[in-house]
Amino acid sequence: MANDIPWERLFEEAARVRSRAHVPYSRFPVGAAILYSDGAVVPGCNVENATYGLTICAERNAFAAGVAQGHGKPVAVAIVVDTPEPCPPCGMCRQVMAEFGESDLPVRSRTPKGAEARYTLGELLPHAFTKAFF
Ligand code: THU
Repeated sequence: MANDIPWERLFEEAARVRSRAHVPYSRFPVGAAILYSDGAVVPGCNVENATYGLTICAERNAFAAGVAQGHGKPVAVAIVVDTPEPCPPCGMCRQVMAEFGESDLPVRSRTPKGAEARYTLGELLPHAFTKAFF
């Protein structure tokens, strides 16, 4: 599967949805796109709120949409952020990824200039707390 992942398409989707981010407070738009085992690609952007703590990250919005749309297993995650170095997902998003993805889930982050970081979920969140413990 790893070699079959259409990364360019995922990054295009992540960049496209990033332009819709609602970020009047941080001015830090983030786009994410998840590929599912059924072939679906589900995008998400960050959505901020005047009550700052209600902000939802791009990655978590994409995962929530994937649940709502009834897709299967996530098999790849692409993130686009305009930072000097590729930006990894935050801790809350890593925990949400661990709810649905396996530890070998590939997560890649790119800048608009094309710098890229590659991770697995297991690298991002070792010793994840999941339903496997109860
Ligand atoms: N943000 C994301 O969308 N994903 C992350 O993994 C890190 C942070 C958003 C939240 C907020 O809207 C902005 O980036 C600045 O923290």
